[in-house]
Amino acid sequence: MIMVTGANGQLASLTLQELAEHNVPALGASRSPAEGQRRLDFDDPATHDLTSVSTLVLVSAGYAEDDQVIARHQRVLDAAVRDGVTHVVYTSLTGDGDHLGFALAHRATEHLIKASGLNWTILRNGLYAELFAALLTWTPDGLESAFGDGALSAVARADLAAAAAVVAGDPTAHAGRIYDLVGEPITAPDIAESLGVTHRSIGLSEYRGRLLADDTLLPFQPPMLASIASGVRHGFLGNTTPDLVQLLGRPLADPLTVITDTAAALRPDAR
Ligand SMILES: NC(=O)c1ccc[n+]([C@@H]2O[C@H](COP(=O)([O-])OP(=O)(O)OC[C@H]3O[C@@H](n4cnc5c(N)ncnc54)[C@H](OP(=O)(O)O)[C@@H]3O)[C@@H](O)[C@H]2O)c1
Repeated sequence: MIMVTGANGQLASLTLQELAEHNVPALGASRSPAEGQRRLDFDDPATHDLTSVSTLVLVSAGYAEDDQVIARHQRVLDAAVRDGVTHVVYTSLTGDGDHLGFALAHRATEHLIKASGLNWTILRNGLYAELFAALLTWTPDGLESAFGDGALSAVARADLAAAAAVVAGDPTAHAGRIYDLVGEPITAPDIAESLGVTHRSIGLSEYRGRLLADDTLLPFQPPMLASIASGVRHGFLGNTTPDLVQLLGRPLADPLTVITDTAAALRPDAR
């Protein structure tokens, strides 16, 4: 049986949907399981029941400090070994993201997976097109960001979910492989042009100041978000690879369309 963790999350729910559409039986696992799903909270060992699971799609559970993320991934991997899982598919971070604030937890998890004795496939996911849109700020005059003219090879989340489903459906064919799954290089000015608005570039220090002043953010988030802006601005995240097209066997969803649709929906006067 395939189990997909984080079943209420966006990537995992799309992955489960893809598997269902291809008639591949799979079980969702969640901290708040729906009917027919299994309860699994990486932070609560009492819920770590991976019996009857052969392939575990371990969707990273970020949104915390590195040590907490690594510890929760370690706990679920220990349970996977104990309960006889044979293959783990991990949703990691693109190789170009090595300098991002949250890269270390992903790379440490990759090390843990390789040391676990399980068969594995690592999906080094690029940054979501939906995330790129959400990181642009709407002003009355148009869009604002600290990305400058730097490109991000943004990728539709649904394409990453489809790739996870392809691999989970035939894990042996992908054992020991690391795939780098990114989309097409797109800049903030490209997005503004496509939306017919202007883009104003702000400096990284101004952006950092805004993040630090935002009391809705958790302590790990300002450095994490600033690292994304810095990485894009300085051209580290605009590379492409053929891996995703090859895994899917079809063209990708157009990331610029996904970004502009998402950004348009986030425009204050559209809400
Ligand atoms: N590539 C990118 O651009 C990008 C952007 C943001 C995040 N990410 C990473 O990719 C992951 C999936 O992205 P997403 O868009 O699906 O994020 P999402 O919609 O926020 O879903 C994340 C899910 O992780 C699960 N989770 C969190 N803490 C957990 C815990 N302690 N134990 C078990 N599950 C836990 C939760 O699932 P349940 O509610 O079902 O328990 C949560 O809904 C994120 O968790 C994050 O690590 C990647």
